[in-house]
Amino acid sequence: APDIAVANVQAHLAQLGTIASSNGGTRRSGTAGYTASVAYIKGKLQAAGYTVAEQTCTSCTYRANNLIADWPGGPSDQITMFGAHLDSVSAGPGINDNGSGSATLLENALVLAQQHPTMSRHVRFAWWAGEEQGLQGSAFYANGLTSTQRSQIKAYYNFDMVGSINGGYFINHITSAAAVPMKAYWDSLGLQPEENTEGAGRSDDYSFERVGIPTSGYAAGASARKTSAQAAKWGGTANSAYDPCYHQACDTTSNISATVLNRAADGVAATIWQTSVSGTTTPPP
Ligand code: PHE
Ligand code: ZN
Ligand code: ZN
Ligand code: ZN
Repeated sequence: APDIAVANVQAHLAQLGTIASSNGGTRRSGTAGYTASVAYIKGKLQAAGYTVAEQTCTSCTYRANNLIADWPGGPSDQITMFGAHLDSVSAGPGINDNGSGSATLLENALVLAQQHPTMSRHVRFAWWAGEEQGLQGSAFYANGLTSTQRSQIKAYYNFDMVGSINGGYFINHITSAAAVPMKAYWDSLGLQPEENTEGAGRSDDYSFERVGIPTSGYAAGASARKTSAQAAKWGGTANSAYDPCYHQACDTTSNISATVLNRAADGVAATIWQTSVSGTTTPPP
């Protein structure tokens, strides 16, 4: 799998920060800052050759669009999905929560297009509206799938807060088959990842879990505090929050660990390749 350049992920974060600054300091679902965030990502994806669709979430508290991007290639009945919520809270620009997951997926999508490998599975990326109001955009999408469509999605991988400045290395459903490639990559770096207990049922993977689709994903932690055992193995500050600016105005581009972000971005690439590119050595889950 390719090495994702964290500088490119950070450049997308800077753009999302500018979008927030130009729109009252927020990218909350239903605001101009959210709409501009969708336009930024959509433009990059279309230029790279993606088939991009906007889906209006009519059941969301604030009317806003999910963004769905399909990379043309691979069997259409064997799909691997990667998703992140693109909305922030109203209090701030949401650069770690969740510009980080959104930018990580955008850069991975662009690198997949540049490399255009032969695909063993179809890859679909999604950026969700209305997560902060209760996983609303992803629920609208997942609940709208027919049973045939549901069965075609072999796994859904979620990325919510993957650049926390005092972060850790957490994996959703770490012992599941879906998590195998995600865990294998972080294991290869010696990171000793842990189960994402803080985030269980609290992000968009839960919308897919509820309709029976296997899920996993990375997270670096939110308002919970890093233990001394975690600081010993991962570095950072014990007894401090993984993200001290969670849901605050200070969740800016200064609120990001480039090291943590880089390891998440590279693990997404490893997982795309392991699950969905022909000729990889590990069978997909
Ligand atoms: N889903 C939460 C949010 O967007 C973030 C979160 C992730 C919280 C992981 C806890 C654990 O605010
Ligand atoms: Zn949040
Ligand atoms: Zn979030
Ligand atoms: Zn990684």
